[in-house]
Amino acid sequence: MSGLRKETICVQGGYTPGNGEPRQIPVIQSTTFRYASGEEMGKLFDLEAPGYFYTRLQNPTNDHVAAKICALEGGSAAMLTSSGQAANFFAMFNLASCGDHIVASSSIYGGTFNLISVTMAKMGISVTFVSPDCTDEELNSAFRDNTKLVFGETIANPALTVLDIEQFARAAHAHGVPLIVDNTFATPINCRPFEWGADIVTHSTTKYMDGHGVGVGGAIVDSGHFDWMAHADRFPGLCTPDESYHGITYAEKFGREGAFITKCTAQLMRDLGSIQSPQNAFYLNLGLESLHVRMARHCENGQAVAEYLSSHPKVLKVVYCGLPGDRYHERAMKYLPNGSCGVVSFELKGGREAASVFMNNLRLAAIETHVADARTCCLNPATTTHRQMTDEQLLQAGVPAGLVRMSCGLENARDLIDDIAQALEKVN
Ligand SMILES: Cc1ncc(COP(=O)(O)O)c(C=O)c1O
Repeated sequence: MSGLRKETICVQGGYTPGNGEPRQIPVIQSTTFRYASGEEMGKLFDLEAPGYFYTRLQNPTNDHVAAKICALEGGSAAMLTSSGQAANFFAMFNLASCGDHIVASSSIYGGTFNLISVTMAKMGISVTFVSPDCTDEELNSAFRDNTKLVFGETIANPALTVLDIEQFARAAHAHGVPLIVDNTFATPINCRPFEWGADIVTHSTTKYMDGHGVGVGGAIVDSGHFDWMAHADRFPGLCTPDESYHGITYAEKFGREGAFITKCTAQLMRDLGSIQSPQNAFYLNLGLESLHVRMARHCENGQAVAEYLSSHPKVLKVVYCGLPGDRYHERAMKYLPNGSCGVVSFELKGGREAASVFMNNLRLAAIETHVADARTCCLNPATTTHRQMTDEQLLQAGVPAGLVRMSCGLENARDLIDDIAQALEKVN
């Protein structure tokens, strides 16, 4: 089935049952798969025939769900991972290894920032962070001879900056490397980064794709556009024989469309094994079936809450790209014309104390280290994730003490606003 619209792909993509087969994607809860002869299985190990042999590498349930995400993003191949962290690590480590270099937007999820700047640094991979608002000159000057990729987030968590995907893709391609975009917050319903030049997309499916706070997971999607062989010297892992796979050259054997995901599965899943469980993939698919309906409501609620807060006397500042005065509004109109997400950040005038009183008095919005759920939740970094920092240190880190990040769920917007209003009344 090709040419379907994203709403139909959400519901029916990735799996078409045959006659008398289950209507819902079956959960293949099996670690292994039986074969009649050793020769047949040998072909699978040689990547000479398609098929499953061990769930640490691939499982049919996961592949159906990955195929749906692939179709939603408009990609050529995709895979599921056990978490968003694993997706971002695998996507980057599939291209960069010891002695290599990465260019990344400085405005990204803290876990990914730490992954790149601490853990991957220990593996000998260096990074240059650039502002998402950098000029072309600043961006181009970040590249080195050993740069292997550029990384950014469509809408960054928690800063809510919007990436200029075309600008970052242009610079990446001028230096012969792909652009990887983490599209978690926008989802393919609101932005499809491949249409703007990105080459690989990642997701924490834990967020809107699951949408119900049920299962941690991730996904990697390849656009199939990047010509690895045209930059063979830079990507020996894809363009020279893999001795651990009987001398296969991925870019030759699987072409632009399949090389990246096949290598990532054959090498990284085989050796590191961060597979999503088939049961979690099944839950993820239930979330995907309503993603297009839910995203519209998350955005409606985010917009209504942001508008209410922006005229409230106890609120110093609201960050939401759907607001006409927002720093990223114009960019959002280009990349996210139908809405961004349900996450709104705002700063209370009374600082840490006000944020604490406000949050403790909320009745509907729960205090959680989570976003992008059907239920509204919120977090004050100063009293939770960043509580060891002084007010001055928080300001320097761009997380003022009175900052609250609220992830608007699927409740009635009026009820959310009434809850916020009564909690703000308690703030002196
Ligand atoms: C944008 C983004 N990418 C990646 C991750 C990591 O995902 P996970 O928690 O599924 O490992 C997160 C988590 O919050 C995120 O917000």
